[in-house]
Amino acid sequence: MTAYAETFRAIPIADGVYWVGAIDWELKEFHGYATGRGTTYNAYLVLADRIALIDTVKRPFLDEMLSRIASVVAPSEIDYIVSNHSELDHSGALPETIRIVRPEKVFASAMGAKALPAHFPLPEPLTPVRDGETLPLGRRSLRFLETRMLHWPDSMMTYLPGEEVLFSQDGFGMHLASSELFADRIDPAVLRSEAAKYYANILLPYSPLVLKLKARIESERLPIRIIAPDHGPVWRLSPLTVVGWYAAWAEQRPTRRAVVVYDTMWGSTAMMARALSEGLRAGGAEARLLPLSKTTRAELATEVLEAGALLVGSPTLNNGLFPTVADGLSYLAGLKPRHLLGLAFGSHGWSGEATGIIAGTLQAIKAETAAPPLRAVYVPTAADLIACFGAGEAIGRRLAGEANSNQ
Ligand code: FEO
Repeated sequence: MTAYAETFRAIPIADGVYWVGAIDWELKEFHGYATGRGTTYNAYLVLADRIALIDTVKRPFLDEMLSRIASVVAPSEIDYIVSNHSELDHSGALPETIRIVRPEKVFASAMGAKALPAHFPLPEPLTPVRDGETLPLGRRSLRFLETRMLHWPDSMMTYLPGEEVLFSQDGFGMHLASSELFADRIDPAVLRSEAAKYYANILLPYSPLVLKLKARIESERLPIRIIAPDHGPVWRLSPLTVVGWYAAWAEQRPTRRAVVVYDTMWGSTAMMARALSEGLRAGGAEARLLPLSKTTRAELATEVLEAGALLVGSPTLNNGLFPTVADGLSYLAGLKPRHLLGLAFGSHGWSGEATGIIAGTLQAIKAETAAPPLRAVYVPTAADLIACFGAGEAIGRRLAGEANSNQ
């Protein structure tokens, strides 16, 4: 048995349902996403005549999970393991867990049953389950909901009728380490900000599927009393709060926020950014200046999530973008933010390709071109800065007008 035999305890979240996951206080980076508040890897134990473990944890946290399980039942008493998602933060401990537990069956979606053996050798083939299929556990049962591409092809959720618990894997989660397991014990402002950061960085590209999932939950009248995600707190009071947040983020309704993202070589592009921001403010927008030398990708994505305009500035360096702008723009383009007004700006010495590259990327994410790129040669003149102010003011007026008409 584990060295932590009596150290970590399971926490009940509903009748016969326990959280048996792990808290990672040290995680500060998750494949390019800055996670300043750490994270949790949530796994859940469902007790009935048969016992099921839903998801596992990242490999280094195997002992912590086993210790929590052992505070309720001997791990060898687990009959089934359900893998809702094959990414390694939830499946890394799966091979060793199978070796220790020796479950009768391990269930995953059809895509999960293919993806998991591609990550590591497994002793037995997995049992694929279909959307809507039920797994009887005796006096209760689990039902599987396929949620393909939320956010991997294998992703699914598991629902426990009766207790009305939705085990939602990455969906409705956040990277937040806390000794408090329940959302209602955590500062609401922290919850919303970390949930927004998670949505922006992980789920934003799949927003149409988020809306479909919400419609399905409503059309099937699936009662949800508890949402138990694979990261962050469990929602036991008003779990539909986070569903409502997701719906608003998925719709990407334009707001009066304008995000001005830039970097600068000798201060010229920064001068343009500041003039634009003054114009935005004068026009009635809320301007957010994000110098990319001091902004993480995760912050950038989160600011853009609830923005109505994206203004991107770069000096031209070696016929291309400044490196931080190339990085930030490439990351944002992959997240496919929608319904934005876009503007490119920047200073250059001779060739000046950067603004064209930015304008091309803004078109690729279907941003509406607010104005032709604004360019300055070496150092912006007073006329250049007045042009920046004017463009910012026009965008600000448009955002303020749209925000008013949406109220
Ligand atoms: Fe938390 Fe997609 O893994």
